[in-house]
Amino acid sequence: MFLRKLCGRYLHQASFLAREASSAPATVSNVAKNKIVSIYRYNPEKPTEKPTVKSYNVDLSKCGNMVLDVLLWIKKEIDPTLSFRKSCREGICGSCAMNIGGINTLACTAALNQNVKKPLKIYPLPHMYVIKDLIVDMNLFYKQYEGIRPYLIRKNPPSEPKQLLQSTRDQMKLNGLIECILCASCSTSCPSYWWNTDIYLGPAVLMQAYRWIIDSRDEATKERLDQLRDPYSLYRCHLIMNCTKTCPKGLNPALAMSEIKLLLAGFKKKEKPDMEN
Ligand code: FES
Repeated sequence: MFLRKLCGRYLHQASFLAREASSAPATVSNVAKNKIVSIYRYNPEKPTEKPTVKSYNVDLSKCGNMVLDVLLWIKKEIDPTLSFRKSCREGICGSCAMNIGGINTLACTAALNQNVKKPLKIYPLPHMYVIKDLIVDMNLFYKQYEGIRPYLIRKNPPSEPKQLLQSTRDQMKLNGLIECILCASCSTSCPSYWWNTDIYLGPAVLMQAYRWIIDSRDEATKERLDQLRDPYSLYRCHLIMNCTKTCPKGLNPALAMSEIKLLLAGFKKKEKPDMEN
């Protein structure tokens, strides 16, 4: 008798809740959420036309949660002429770096602010030559990267391919450096790089220079350091720290550049490798 009463009460409550739910107003997820997304546009095929900022009304309920999803949606549904780079969509290739809401970051890992009252502004990476819309010319950046010889250099390279041993402790020194995906978010956020692009290597390239300087298997440490001994390549870094603040991978290029300065000044020395090869 008691059980029947109890079950009856729960059934009554359940049907009441079901009725309430059916008469409830539509939830946020099924209401169209429109947000204004303003994007820098430049078409090199119309060189007489000045670059503009074009605004799009984006229904957030129709696209994914990342800024790259919004760009893909605009390109598919509204404007197929919108141009931007992307590849992995996983924060690995670095090709989708752009200035989103005033911060250099990766469009594929930047979460979209769902607040429809806050318009979103997307620009190309600052102080880079724009090829089209959000695509910038990365040639100089890659040339600078090539200039630091981003590979292992041995004094007597073996005639046959040979595995070079490295202790765990030595390998740990590379952590925080090898994760860089060369997206150039840090370099293009640095005022020193903006004003001296042709003579200053910038945070991304310098962090990679340090990655090879500190590698226990590399034997060109002195040459690598000498290459940075001029007044510009490294010393245009004034520790503004924008690079570290903006890195979408959470790395610390400013620290790497400071370490190179300590090595150049002789305050630090590269340790001997734990394992001989
Ligand atoms: S698409 Fe590869 S990092 Fe964004």
